[in-house]
Amino acid sequence: MLRGALPAAFAIAMGVLVGAVQGGRPLIVPLAFAGAVFIVLQVLAPVHQALSANLGDRTAAWLYDRLTEACIAPPGMGHLENPALANDLVVARDFDLGMTGPPLFISMDFIAGGLVELIGGLACALVLFGYRWWAPLALAGSWLATHWLLRESGVWYDRNTPPVRAAQRDAEYAYRLAVDPGPAKEVRLFGLADWVLERFVARRTLLHRLQYDATRLREQPLVWSTVLVVAANVLVFWMLARDASSGRISLGALVVFAQAAVGVSMIAFGGLNWALNGAAAPVAAVLRLEGAMRPSGTLAPGIRLALGMPAHEIRFRDVTFAYPGGAPVLEHFDLVIPAGSSMAIVGQNGAGKTTLAKLLCRLYDPQAGAIEVDGIDLREIAIDAWRERVAAVFQDFIRFELPLRDNVAPNGAPDDLIYAALEAAGASRLARLDTVLARGYDDGTDLSGGQWQRVALARALCGVARGAGLVLLDEPTAQLDVRGEAEIFDRILTATRRSTTLLISHRFSTVRHANRICVLEHGRVVELGSHDELIALGGRYRTMFDLQAKRFAVVEGEEGMTYDVLA
Ligand SMILES: Nc1ncnc2c1ncn2[C@@H]1O[C@H](COP(=O)(O)OP(=O)(O)O)[C@@H](O)[C@H]1O
Ligand SMILES: [Mg+2]
Repeated sequence: MLRGALPAAFAIAMGVLVGAVQGGRPLIVPLAFAGAVFIVLQVLAPVHQALSANLGDRTAAWLYDRLTEACIAPPGMGHLENPALANDLVVARDFDLGMTGPPLFISMDFIAGGLVELIGGLACALVLFGYRWWAPLALAGSWLATHWLLRESGVWYDRNTPPVRAAQRDAEYAYRLAVDPGPAKEVRLFGLADWVLERFVARRTLLHRLQYDATRLREQPLVWSTVLVVAANVLVFWMLARDASSGRISLGALVVFAQAAVGVSMIAFGGLNWALNGAAAPVAAVLRLEGAMRPSGTLAPGIRLALGMPAHEIRFRDVTFAYPGGAPVLEHFDLVIPAGSSMAIVGQNGAGKTTLAKLLCRLYDPQAGAIEVDGIDLREIAIDAWRERVAAVFQDFIRFELPLRDNVAPNGAPDDLIYAALEAAGASRLARLDTVLARGYDDGTDLSGGQWQRVALARALCGVARGAGLVLLDEPTAQLDVRGEAEIFDRILTATRRSTTLLISHRFSTVRHANRICVLEHGRVVELGSHDELIALGGRYRTMFDLQAKRFAVVEGEEGMTYDVLA
């Protein structure tokens, strides 16, 4: 407000000074007045700029906080996979990186500066009322009209259309392919460098074109704006010149009013309009996401305790489940897993094995039917209490960029427990407990896929040692060699013999020592029984077992099984 008022005050100060010179009066007071206004103007500008940049930074941090909370807070995970929210998520996640618009600290500077100019222009218009009542109306009116005439170009209406969002997403994806180390191997091997670059350039170019097209909407209205503004200014300045030359107003008044008339132009359409629109888009996206994520990530909070569960059995009762917007993965699915036993789920890729594991963790709720633990619907059990009962190795387990110790026990555990878990997973000599498992840290190290899998297994086994009742192992050995797999399976069975174990694998030939084997196909149980029963049955399991075991000679050792690669 103060900065906005100063240009008008300066115009008055200059008028008073010129008046004093002309009238031969003492100049000390007018000079001091003009000097003071000038200094305050100079000092306030950088202060205001620093404040607005700071406000922009804080707003960005505040939005990031809200987004982080919106993403992490829901106990389910449907909201992070919902395609309807994916575009907003990209805009919201990266809004301050300068990819989809200027960072907020720059936008906020524009907004703050624009507000000052708006106030400054209006203050100058107020001064002009001292000249003639119609002069400020004509000038301010014409400059304000530019806001209306040029409104189309200030707001990039196309910003939220599917093509713009898709281009932003594709550009971001190509950018990630180019700069992240993960895809680097295949991008180079398959000669995709040019493809990635072209994709990025094409999408960014498309975005610039769309924005440019929006900008060109200004061409025609710009002519009208110019005509209006020129007409109003010619009228006012012509009157001023006439009144001054005829002596109707003094030289001092002329200086004040001429400066004020120029000052009214600060009202014009400009940076404020663009910055406000650009900065508003991510804010809108974050706030929209906040509202939209909550319901789709929500799971009814149960209240029952999970002490000692499962003690009797886990039962899928007529369960039907589909991912948001997808076809059912499980349909009328029934399965009983007796507590304290091991059950293997085998089936080919896409059969729904991982989905079963996720449902058991209650990351989603089925659309129909129920999962019951000891006869109690999983939805009635407190989510956190249930999850404390579950230890798991997921197919795409997390690789914490943290010391080995925290990778095995993210929530903390005594070192001897951690050593025992690593030992049981065959990972005792991988690294020291304090070694960070990522490159880019002092004495950090990265592991191979199989070594990582052993660390993940140790994490689950540590959970078992701390009392987890249900162990989910989703392809825990998929990245291990055959010998490693045989060895690991023995270790798993030993370490988990007191818990209920669900062992998921697409290798039919590797699960024969589980108590019971369930063959899953298109979300249905097609065969269920022990290895011997299923072999005797001569159905799907038998076929797949023979097919996949052909590659290995199976030798009965004294302690369980070992597999040997045939030449
Ligand atoms: N997050 C998801 N969103 C939508 N569909 C999914 C998701 N995860 C898996 N699916 C689909 O569900 C089916 C079963 O997947 P999944 O349980 O991962 O199979 P499996 O672990 O047996 O290979 C597949 O058709 C897969 O495409
Ligand atoms: Mg899977």
